[in-house]
Amino acid sequence: MSRLTTYLKGRARHMVLARVGGNGIDLSQLDRVPESLSWPLQRNGTDPVERIAELREREPVSRLTSFLGLTVWVVTGDAEAREALADTTSYSNDIRPFMGRRGSTTDGDIGGLGFTDPPDHTRLRRLLTPEFTMRRLERLRPRVAAIIDGQLDEIERLGSAGGTVDLVPTFAFPVPFLVICELLGLPDEDRDTFRELGSARFDVSYGGQGTFGAVSGSRRFLMEATRKQRTNPGDGLIGQIIREHGEEINDFDLAGLADGVFTGGLETSASMLALGTAVLLDHPDDYHRLTTDPAVVDRTVEELLRYLSVVQVSFPRFPKHDVELGGQTVAKGDVIVCQLPGANRDARNGAGLDGFDAGRAPTSHLAFGHGFHRCVGAELARLELRAAFPALARRFPDLAVATDELDYRERSIVYGVESLPVRLRTGAALR
Ligand code: HEM
Repeated sequence: MSRLTTYLKGRARHMVLARVGGNGIDLSQLDRVPESLSWPLQRNGTDPVERIAELREREPVSRLTSFLGLTVWVVTGDAEAREALADTTSYSNDIRPFMGRRGSTTDGDIGGLGFTDPPDHTRLRRLLTPEFTMRRLERLRPRVAAIIDGQLDEIERLGSAGGTVDLVPTFAFPVPFLVICELLGLPDEDRDTFRELGSARFDVSYGGQGTFGAVSGSRRFLMEATRKQRTNPGDGLIGQIIREHGEEINDFDLAGLADGVFTGGLETSASMLALGTAVLLDHPDDYHRLTTDPAVVDRTVEELLRYLSVVQVSFPRFPKHDVELGGQTVAKGDVIVCQLPGANRDARNGAGLDGFDAGRAPTSHLAFGHGFHRCVGAELARLELRAAFPALARRFPDLAVATDELDYRERSIVYGVESLPVRLRTGAALR
């Protein structure tokens, strides 16, 4: 207890010091996120902790905590979350007033679309969306299939002797990582650095310093990639935007867009692949059915997205004036976050939403958010997941998790597992 008290005192002192004179509160200076703020990121395995359901029953919009003089609200109800996420008149996504000087590498925005308001958001998102149309994504489909096949070959090579293989570094992470490198048009030699920056920035266990350090690191990196492509545009998203809209966007904003795509698409899809595989292996009939019918694949992927809700909270929303939400008055100057796994299990939308049911008629879920900031990469993510899970089930029908306890990530905005050890076969020879 005394260690805890010392720790808390130290934190309180640090938090006070973290205030930046005249510049608002500097979240980037926090080196550990307080428990009262981070508990909604905890889970029991794949489920949100029970407190989330209790809160949703009692108060779907609830005052979570107050720290550094800032009141933080958590929204656990589906209808209330949709209302907040869709309302750009009442809420801002602009985080700059809360960042002090450190979160920004220059005077511009800090990390892409999710932290940007109209009209900048509208202007920048309009540049990005053509890269995610079904027509453009179709061009990626054969590359996605080849990337998946390449990784399955590696898994087969590593596991054919009968030992265990970790699916995180061999499958869940490299598939979306290589897909995003393709999408952005990044050269091979940049890929290792990207890999490291991608993981670090979503891990809130190390607080603001680690997260925001990684943000500015990947941002600098993409700034350099963008500068290079300005003179020699590549085939990917960065080069395409330079060719078609080069006059309308500066390097800083374009690097920010690329950064949002990189970080928004990597850890999220990687977590879906790892956790999704774990859930499927726990439901072997559903796993095997993936090889039978594309309609089954689509439905199963949608249910996995809802059930896992790997993005645990929305980008923060900042009320522009006092707003009534779910019977509460949320004041200007407060912060709202929507807790998506909780909202996606809201009993007001039907029974049994706490469990995974691959046969469930698709429900409208919030795993990709809602409204103006809804995930721009949703269709790419679906394309990857719909290709990867059945390919895995076809290649390794006897796949089995090789541990009793999975190593779930703690308090991470994007939920996931650190590793997923599997065995490729339980008896029969491969293929
Ligand atoms: C299964 C995988 C994914 C999940 C679960 C996911 C989830 C989300 C969620 C919940 C939001 C909205 C947050 C909010 O409104 O506050 C979001 C936004 C975003 N996502 Fe994804 N995402 C995934 C994959 C991707 C991919 C593959 C990309 C790009 C290649 C991507 C890029 C983005 C971007 C750029 C935004 C910000 C959009 C905006 O603010 O206008 N995401 N994502």
